[in-house]
Amino acid sequence: GETHYHDFVIEAKPVKRLCRTHNIITVNGKFPGPTLNVRNGDTLVIKATNRARYNVTLHWHGIRQLGTPWADGPEYVTQCPIQPGATYTYRFTIINQEGTLWWHAHSKWLRATVYGALVIRPKVGSPYPFPQPTREVPIVLGEWWNRDIISILRQTIFTGAAPNVSDAYTINGQPGDLYPCSSKGTFKIHVNSGETVLLRVINAALNQQLFFTVANHQLTVVAADAVYHKQFATRVIMVGPGQTTDVLLTANQPPARYYMAARAYATAQNAPFDNTTTTAILEYNTATGGSSASRPLLPQLPAFNDTNTATVFENQLRSIPSVESKVPLKIDHSLFFTVGLGFVNCNPGPRCQGPNNTRFAASMNNVSFVLPRRASLLQAYYNNIPGIFTTDFPPVPPVQFNYTGNVPRALWQPRFGTKLYKLKFGETVQIVLQDTGIFSTEDHPIHLHGYHFYVVAQGFGNFNPQTDPQRFNLFDPPSRNTIDVPVGGWAVIRFVADNPGVWLFHCHIDAHLAWGLGMAFLVENGIGEYETVTPPPADLPRC
Ligand code: C2O
Repeated sequence: GETHYHDFVIEAKPVKRLCRTHNIITVNGKFPGPTLNVRNGDTLVIKATNRARYNVTLHWHGIRQLGTPWADGPEYVTQCPIQPGATYTYRFTIINQEGTLWWHAHSKWLRATVYGALVIRPKVGSPYPFPQPTREVPIVLGEWWNRDIISILRQTIFTGAAPNVSDAYTINGQPGDLYPCSSKGTFKIHVNSGETVLLRVINAALNQQLFFTVANHQLTVVAADAVYHKQFATRVIMVGPGQTTDVLLTANQPPARYYMAARAYATAQNAPFDNTTTTAILEYNTATGGSSASRPLLPQLPAFNDTNTATVFENQLRSIPSVESKVPLKIDHSLFFTVGLGFVNCNPGPRCQGPNNTRFAASMNNVSFVLPRRASLLQAYYNNIPGIFTTDFPPVPPVQFNYTGNVPRALWQPRFGTKLYKLKFGETVQIVLQDTGIFSTEDHPIHLHGYHFYVVAQGFGNFNPQTDPQRFNLFDPPSRNTIDVPVGGWAVIRFVADNPGVWLFHCHIDAHLAWGLGMAFLVENGIGEYETVTPPPADLPRC
């Protein structure tokens, strides 16, 4: 493959949206950041220079990082942050991955504005497993805040109140012309009648699942999370934070202007939500050379609580068994993780503003994940530094209860900890992810670094270990790096631990991650190529 060199300078830049200008953190002054275009087998060398006043790291979401765990990027997990003024070079090769991924900051809430598309085309000469599109367009869905994102993070952590609601959703950084002062920048795609466009839809929003649709046009799903899937037609797709979905769109409607639009799905019932809609425009070139000036047609969008549409969409997603490696059938580690929100007691004060002297915390199996500060987890493992983490993450919840019922808060007060779960190289893992209703049931897009996993089943209510395994799809389940655990429901994933290192497993809703909704797997070395953790690069940042 080819090697691509990029300089990423992380710096504050004034950006104007929604009628006002304020400084946001950008890469190379761009918002969204640059799109990386590569092919399967290529190598990326990205020199990241931090000119901002915050610590930062970059993460290549969905890249397996086989043999390069030091390039994964989550702060204090695989590296210490790049401090202001410092530089770190990320170097990794794309090994057997094709489709749409993305990159983002993995430090505090900086990914609110520090993100971009990562497009992986097939090797030269190999075709797509679907009709060749005439154009390819990344559609990066995001959010915009009128306020400084770090101060919003502080407020959210300590109060658990509503400030995680953004001021607009965005398509390729633009709210779209239904918002004030936004018509000039509105993102547009120009098409000729009859052509087929590949839309690479990425949900880079900080805290929000999104529906996406295009007025009057059908979408044909061809891939998700950089794995080709069986094709199916749909009007609406649902994309959770972290996920990507590739769709083909054929311009087969009367030449005119059509809105494509995204809107929130599954916002917390108890939190206020922004029901405005972000739009971009699909514009047909007309025979006379000009473009139709008429007002674009708006699509029908599902309501924010339309679980049915989301479920119907997700149930249609199927991998291609002949292309994919096999679903593991014999399981070495059968794990059951609760995922959900809760409260911890705290001493009254500015950092303790939840109900009855509590503040929000989130947990998996009642452990609220705390990042270390003295060294990253991977460094601590590689260099045998004691006292940074323990390997006693519980394989099942400490107590069993009616997870999605009305649970007394006292039953489930999370404990803080930096607990890892250890796997031997090549072992097979099944995890039941069970949402809980301690605060309120919520949708949790759970992301595993360094891996793809099969989603063998999902459902509502409590997982039933007697009957639900009969419904497992072990033939052609979707293969992803991020699974949207349904609101008040569960999902079951399977994978083979064939990538050594320390891999974060967390909710991709940043508010939930900030409250501790995560853990990490420690995968021990094997013996072959890409099967052992290599020495860290010389410029790896120090804590
Ligand atoms: Cu897309 Cu841990 O992140």
